[in-house]
Amino acid sequence: MKRIRVRAANGSYEILCGRGVLARSASSVQRLASGGPVFLLSSPRVWHHWGARVERLFRGISRAAILFGDREAEKNLETVEKICRQLVDAGADRRAMLVAVGGGVVGDVVGFVAASYARGVGLVHVPTTLVAQVDSAIGGKTGVNLPEGKNMVGAFYPPRLVLADPDMLRTLPLREYRSGIYEVIKYGVIGDENLFRFLEHGMRDLLLRKPSALDFVIERSAVQKARVVSQDEHESGLREILNFGHTFAHALESVTRYRRYQHGEAVGLGMIAASNLGVAQGLLSPAAAERITRLIAAVGSLPSWPGVAAARLVAAMQADKKTRAGKLRFVLPERIGKVRCGVEVEPSAVVRVLRECAFPRAAK
Ligand SMILES: NC(=O)c1ccc[n+]([C@@H]2O[C@H](COP(=O)([O-])OP(=O)(O)OC[C@H]3O[C@@H](n4cnc5c(N)ncnc54)[C@H](O)[C@@H]3O)[C@@H](O)[C@H]2O)c1
Ligand SMILES: [Zn+2]
Repeated sequence: MKRIRVRAANGSYEILCGRGVLARSASSVQRLASGGPVFLLSSPRVWHHWGARVERLFRGISRAAILFGDREAEKNLETVEKICRQLVDAGADRRAMLVAVGGGVVGDVVGFVAASYARGVGLVHVPTTLVAQVDSAIGGKTGVNLPEGKNMVGAFYPPRLVLADPDMLRTLPLREYRSGIYEVIKYGVIGDENLFRFLEHGMRDLLLRKPSALDFVIERSAVQKARVVSQDEHESGLREILNFGHTFAHALESVTRYRRYQHGEAVGLGMIAASNLGVAQGLLSPAAAERITRLIAAVGSLPSWPGVAAARLVAAMQADKKTRAGKLRFVLPERIGKVRCGVEVEPSAVVRVLRECAFPRAAK
């Protein structure tokens, strides 16, 4: 088991990762709750796989679990209200400790409830997807969607503890699992060449969910996310590097109305585009871009590029508010393990790269 410390303004917290962490979760939570009531929160789907085990571990420690739907469409204020009212019903006071057992949706919703219920109660994340273990459970971003847009209402609210057990990923559907791998590749490109090399050799083992491979990539990814958010908790600078591939990804998700891609898949395509843009801007060598593209392909086949004009994708990026005086801003790789933030690029150059990505032969 590894301990990774995250600094936050309201007190630092630890991420414990490794197999067997789940088994320790109850006693760790009990210690932190110091006598206050403990509530387990999860979704019916996650509970179907893990509820019996978690309830056994928390017997005598926690109240009956509160379950809510974890589809993206249910990540909203109505769900928040329902959960808060169930907490009132169950007698939760300001000493309460909420334990979020699930993926990013469960974590974001429960995190926001913890930030606002009784003006803030204790929060522990038990992430059960690869995305949640390497990304969403770390850093204190919580929130829900509005019909007008994703994550429009939220708060920075650090947990007291994160318990990431790779064993919980056994039951994750393959497509969800692969989605998380693209975010792991992102950590390799933005700051960990050793992780990237490990993935180049060990992708097969990782796809097979071999414990040794999973332990390694979860720990290395969590270390990076922890390092970045510790230095920039409220997203004023350094945290931007986590957006590598994401300007393209958000545009891809938005023009396809969030139906065609899993977020991680859009990030996979986005990282290919950002690497090609890095080459076009003279920042990255073609050989390094080729390595990045090859590693992304090794995860499996990605849904194809959407059948929309490159200019429409660029318009979606411009609507994403990352523009300055008409130019778009990107995080672009300089080499594997190092990126440059805030690179301003003319929209026409972005259009050229997108055309090459989406129609490689036609462009040549
Ligand atoms: N707060 C942040 O910093 C941050 C970062 C990245 C993503 N997010 C958010 O996270 C959400 C995506 O999270 P996600 O990718 O973890 O997916 P998810 O929470 O949508 O879960 C995906 C699916 O897997 C199921 N599932 C979860 N764990 C399982 C398990 N162990 N076994 C079987 N099934 C399981 C869920 O029920 C769900 O159907 C998005 O809403 C995104 O906005 C937040
Ligand atoms: Zn992402």
